[in-house]
Amino acid sequence: MKREDRTAVIDHFEKLMAEHGASFKTLGFGRPESQLRRFEVLAEVGDIRGADILDVYCGLADFYDFLKAGDPGVRYHAIEVVPAFVRHIRKARPEVSVEVGDFLEESFDGEWDYVFASGIFRRAVSDSWELMQKSISKMFRTCRVAVAFNSLSAYADKREEGEFFASPERTFAFCKSLTPYVTLRHDYMPHDFTIYMYRK
Ligand SMILES: C[S@@+](CC[C@H](N)C(=O)[O-])C[C@H]1O[C@@H](n2cnc3c(N)ncnc32)[C@H](O)[C@@H]1O
Repeated sequence: MKREDRTAVIDHFEKLMAEHGASFKTLGFGRPESQLRRFEVLAEVGDIRGADILDVYCGLADFYDFLKAGDPGVRYHAIEVVPAFVRHIRKARPEVSVEVGDFLEESFDGEWDYVFASGIFRRAVSDSWELMQKSISKMFRTCRVAVAFNSLSAYADKREEGEFFASPERTFAFCKSLTPYVTLRHDYMPHDFTIYMYRK
């Protein structure tokens, strides 16, 4: 991420954390159900039981709770760019393996079966499409089995200022340039889509 974009993202979420504390509101979800629905769809990428999982920009690590409830054997590691979120996770759930940093700056190559990302493209930055492509490429390089990520969709009928709405078709075509095995899901919420990318 460009430095000014990283600073803007961190400032945005640190302000919300100061205002709302550890809440779905801080993460920008209108309702807790919409966060949960996204998790359910992400987890349908494949058989993730006992898998090594990387959660890119985990927020408050709610996906950890979701995964552990379904499979206590799952091995979870997360990276998050907002220091206040990482401080909170380390205090509230010291068992969670989490590091603070910019995903594009860290080296993770080939260590994870599944790489997940939920809501990480939501805030518009100086070049959201370029950042999205770089992030998808790195997530795919980093996984052994598959990547699953979501984004707000250009098909949304309501748009909030400061948010990025990706084209599902363009994102699908980009993912298809990285692997022949791609699934696009736009069947669970009108304004959101999820992509699965498989090694084979
Ligand atoms: C909407 S929150 C979701 C957090 C978590 N993945 C979840 O679903 O609960 C987005 C997370 O991605 C990180 N992030 C990085 N770049 C971002 C961007 N451009 N827009 C929004 N969030 C971004 C934030 O720090 C935040 O933790």
